[in-house]
Amino acid sequence: MAMKIVRAQEAALLINDNDNVGFSGFTSAGCPKAVPLALAERAQAEHAKGNPFRIGVFTGASTGDNIDGALVRANAIKFRTPYQTNNDMRNAINEGSVNYFDLHLSSLAQDLRYGFYGDIDVAIIEASDVTETGEIVPTCGIGIALTAVQMAKLVIVELNEWHPKELCGMHDLLELQNPPNRSEINITNVRSRIGKEYIQTDPAKIVVVKTNIPNDGGCFAPVDEITSKIGENTANFLVGEMRRGTIPESFLPIQSGVGNIANAVLSAIGSNKEIPNFEVYTEVVQDAIIDLLEQGRVTYASGGTLAVSNPYIERIYKNLPFFKDKMILRTSEISNNPEVIRRLGIISMNTAIEADIFGNINSTHIAGSKIMNGLGGSGDFTRNAYISIFLTPSTAKNGDISAFVPMVSHVDHNEHSVKVIISEYGVADLRGKSPRERAECIIENCVHPDYRSLLRKYLKSGAKGQTPVNLYNVFSFHKALLETGSMKNAVIE
Ligand code: COA
Repeated sequence: MAMKIVRAQEAALLINDNDNVGFSGFTSAGCPKAVPLALAERAQAEHAKGNPFRIGVFTGASTGDNIDGALVRANAIKFRTPYQTNNDMRNAINEGSVNYFDLHLSSLAQDLRYGFYGDIDVAIIEASDVTETGEIVPTCGIGIALTAVQMAKLVIVELNEWHPKELCGMHDLLELQNPPNRSEINITNVRSRIGKEYIQTDPAKIVVVKTNIPNDGGCFAPVDEITSKIGENTANFLVGEMRRGTIPESFLPIQSGVGNIANAVLSAIGSNKEIPNFEVYTEVVQDAIIDLLEQGRVTYASGGTLAVSNPYIERIYKNLPFFKDKMILRTSEISNNPEVIRRLGIISMNTAIEADIFGNINSTHIAGSKIMNGLGGSGDFTRNAYISIFLTPSTAKNGDISAFVPMVSHVDHNEHSVKVIISEYGVADLRGKSPRERAECIIENCVHPDYRSLLRKYLKSGAKGQTPVNLYNVFSFHKALLETGSMKNAVIE
């Protein structure tokens, strides 16, 4: 290969203090691994010499520990967007040592092209292949890789031989035009292909670092009684919608969020015999989707990333022709695109941290102030879905926290976008209901029995008007939690 090949440490020397860096990947899948670690070491060495060294970090979504963990522990991050799940990063954000701004994942690539956040100096991209003519084949997660490569002055390609070159063909990559010149996105079904199989760039911008590093995909928790009941309730709800004709018999594509609950719910839908074989149009392809593809229950999956555990990625790579025939990986700008989500009629299913009795959802903050992960794609899908569903266990922390409160301590999705809420107790279908009816429906169907009378008392105490809020007691549940350790001690006046 005539292209410049360097070691990770040499590549790290090409990055300067204050640079804005765009990383490939979405979850830990598709993220570069060696160069960010070398960059963290470089930052520590510069700090030891008394030199400043902090970079701006743009990613597709959350990353592996080699990016968020290593860089934050090296105090090498000046700002971070759009989504993270790393403990050290979360602590640094909540302590105020990293400036974090949360975004809808579909927006970041276009916001970058519009120039809202300045330049991208360097793109660091994990690839399964790269050619002399500047064709870069990503690995198993894409995120903002395409835009980062187009905008960056320098592109560091981590050519990771752990990923097969034969991945080429699984990706569909198209950069959208900026307004006023943008035309429609020509995705008319889950399988539509509209772009290239690789990222094309000027080879003169590329330096290559060769690696052979496995993914760090962790495992999902086994389905427990609560997640299994949430799954069953969701599947039954969807069957009911089919029976009354609001979901066509051929079914509609499904989006499912991140984490154990989403994984368990997909399994439950897959094993419900009344639901026909279906397609998935989502951002994260998790383990359950792989099982369902193999069983033929999911007939096609379009996603932004293979956020699967390592035994699953190895299974996919062993049987690559089968999966290439049934799967597409897209940029987050397309996997989460509002125009496409509306056109395809996606049924969205995301997890809430808390919901209020009027249907507002908090997906991101604990007790109003501390960030958990971020918005992710939940807003992209919820606002534009055919039916938007939120899933949550009725309580957290051994029952001391009710997931249903008088008013959410932070709003990510408001009552106008949220159509259905499901807990292990049942389904609250909020469509066509007034705020008071929504509150009664949620208390009756989703709230844990320990909290029903408290919430009924709150509802009764509300002011007269369209939305019966009692401003003196809106945070009575959170106040009781902070003061006594349990929301069960809430006092409604
Ligand atoms: N107050 C305090 N803690 C709460 C809580 C509440 N109201 N609700 C949940 N938690 C805690 C849980 O106890 C758990 O803590 P632990 O890790 O110490 O056990 C943690 O939050 C995660 O909750 P869990 O019930 O295990 O759900 P999860 O792993 O599925 O995560 C979200 C739930 C909301 C944090 C996660 O789905 C998320 O980040 N969503 C936003 C992004 C998104 O929706 N992306 C998908 C778009 S495709």
